[in-house]
Amino acid sequence: MSDTISLVILAAGEGKRLKLNCPKALAPMAGRKLVDFPVGAALGFLSEGNIEGNITLVLGHGATEVKNYINSKYDDVNTVFQENQLGTADAVNSYLKSVDIKDDKSDYTFVMCADTPMIGEEDLTRLYNIIKSKELDALAATFLAKDPFGYGRIVLSKQGFHIVEEKDANEETKEIQEVNSGLYVFKSCFLRKEIKKISNKNQSGEFYLTDIFEEDKNVKTECFENEEIFYGVNDLQQLQQSERFIRWEHMGKLRDEGVRLIDLSHTYIDLDVEIGVGTCIYPNVFLEGKTKIGADCLIEAGSIIRNSVLHDSVNIKAYSHLEDVIVRSHASIGPFGRLRPGTDIGAESKIGNFVEIKKSKLEKGVKVSHLSYVGDAEIGEESNIGCGFVTCNYDGKNKHKTEIGKNCFIGSNSQTVAPVEIGNDCFVASGSTINQPMEDGSFAISRGRQVTKPGLAKKFIKK
Ligand code: UD1
Ligand code: CA
Repeated sequence: MSDTISLVILAAGEGKRLKLNCPKALAPMAGRKLVDFPVGAALGFLSEGNIEGNITLVLGHGATEVKNYINSKYDDVNTVFQENQLGTADAVNSYLKSVDIKDDKSDYTFVMCADTPMIGEEDLTRLYNIIKSKELDALAATFLAKDPFGYGRIVLSKQGFHIVEEKDANEETKEIQEVNSGLYVFKSCFLRKEIKKISNKNQSGEFYLTDIFEEDKNVKTECFENEEIFYGVNDLQQLQQSERFIRWEHMGKLRDEGVRLIDLSHTYIDLDVEIGVGTCIYPNVFLEGKTKIGADCLIEAGSIIRNSVLHDSVNIKAYSHLEDVIVRSHASIGPFGRLRPGTDIGAESKIGNFVEIKKSKLEKGVKVSHLSYVGDAEIGEESNIGCGFVTCNYDGKNKHKTEIGKNCFIGSNSQTVAPVEIGNDCFVASGSTINQPMEDGSFAISRGRQVTKPGLAKKFIKK
């Protein structure tokens, strides 16, 4: 019979040193939240190995906020509340207390920290394979730290090992380089039995989970060769470094798959961003959230693209800003284009410099080439909007719709006063203010007539 596995993620800490106005678990990390990483590793471990199990987060500081986030994103992740943060053993205990022994079918229990985002499912698999094959009661993941300060030290002896926390370590112990990573796997029955014996008689007055490891027990360490995966996020410098590392790996993968990144060290791509083969990204580009970019696109310098979908062969010219939009194939935007939420740009359309478009649908081949504002509008195929066009969509209280049909020509420096409807094949003379509907094929002009008085200029020119 195959094993059932529980994974417990400790996330009750406040994260004061991060100085963010959110609980530590919700610290931003490459377009996700810090807590998404251990949860992702745990989910991946179970699904990859086709293992039956459950995942529980132990929450404390900001519990409601974190719980809401978790429930909105994951179907099968449980949360429990740790009343007071009395230490890592107490945190695990609040989980154990939440599951009735009679209902606890788990054979093994993993304990992970919420603040080590680089641990992956393969690391959990490695520990699981060892605890099983060596028939151990517990296994702690350790590593050799270049700077062991702050970590629990692995104190070895002939009989086995135990773990001494920084605050409790003497000078000799502080020299030890092998440290506890905070990732463990236990036989569930062993954990339940032994955790009861842990006391808080130490320098911090905390219940240390690490005290479960003692010389006379059937427990071992597994020393990982790669220190980076255990890199913790406790302050803003570590947050920045971890984020950089995580982005770097993601961008390296994208590059190897065929995305051309001109300069990785000046490009910022969130983890959930997908990019097609043959696309080229210039430096100083930010691709954020759930953005999906097709093949053979060109994204020029300084552009920010957030939660948007770009089809194939799209060109985003320099310094454009896109948020919650769709841009269809062969369209081009910018330089200095601004596409606001709810905008859908048709294939082969051309949005030029200093054009702002909000919540509008532009069909195939539409051109809005210069200095315009288009809001709450629909524009039909192949229509050409001249320079300096404005949809006057707001009456101070409500927003109204502008509809422009296909194959229209709207002259430069025109406005539409919404709500208004312009049919297909219409022509609006430049400088017009359109506030009446236009039927298909009609022409409209609405501007003051020009009066020219010969010789009068000298009266007005003051030298
Ligand atoms: C812990 C280990 C240490 C190890 C280090 C690795 C103990 C006693 N020490 O130390 O050996 O080298 O991790 O990073 O376990 N938490 C709770 N409730 C609590 C206390 C902590 O949920 O009451 C959570 C924290 O939010 C955090 C994790 O447990 O996610 C680790 O706690 P932390 O206080 O950061 O432990 P360290 O001092 O780093
Ligand atoms: Ca820590």
